[in-house]
Amino acid sequence: MEQTVTFALAKGRLAEEAIELLERRQVDCSCLREKSRRLVFETEQGYRFMLVKPSDVPTYVDHGVADIGIVGKDTLMEENRPLYEMLDLGFGACRICVAGRPETSLQDSHLRVATKYPRIASEVFAQRGSTIEIIRLNGSVELGPLVGLSDVILDIVESGATLRANGLCVLEEICPVSARLVVNRVSLKTKAARIRPLVEGLRELLKEERA
Ligand code: PRP
Repeated sequence: MEQTVTFALAKGRLAEEAIELLERRQVDCSCLREKSRRLVFETEQGYRFMLVKPSDVPTYVDHGVADIGIVGKDTLMEENRPLYEMLDLGFGACRICVAGRPETSLQDSHLRVATKYPRIASEVFAQRGSTIEIIRLNGSVELGPLVGLSDVILDIVESGATLRANGLCVLEEICPVSARLVVNRVSLKTKAARIRPLVEGLRELLKEERA
């Protein structure tokens, strides 16, 4: 009996791109295209797909209820789980940045930083030797400096449109990020016969498409 391989996909734009990529590798994801509120889907090819909040993808994979996850590197850095990061999928490319009003100096002695990424923010500012106060938000982080909740934000910037629309700019670029394919450490051994060929097939496909 073939082992089922379970995917946890980050709901939203990353899932859409993940589905397109998997379909280019003949993994049938048509069930995921149906408009419905269902969260788990089984396919005849022996795959199960779960659509979860991006920040929960590493949790599902770490606990082994999903074998494979597709999620942004920013989320992986923040969650810091012991997963095998197998592939950089290239899509979802953006940058982790510190941003704020153009006149704000990062040298200020006590910065208030609004962010969805408290772990990354504390590491970034600890490396600079700065004392900061982290204000954890779950979205629309750009509001922070506008309403005086924070001095700066640490967030992902893709086109820069949200910053521009709110009179903010990048004060420091931290690192580029993009979607990654991660695998549970036990699954990579116990389901090697299914997971390895799939990962290698995707690696080849990405190489061809980038060439
Ligand atoms: C993300 C991010 C920025 C925006 C950046 O937010 O947190 O707000 O996208 O994209 P841009 O540089 O192309 O404008 P998201 O849309 O995920 O919503 P959120 O604010 O609710 O987290």
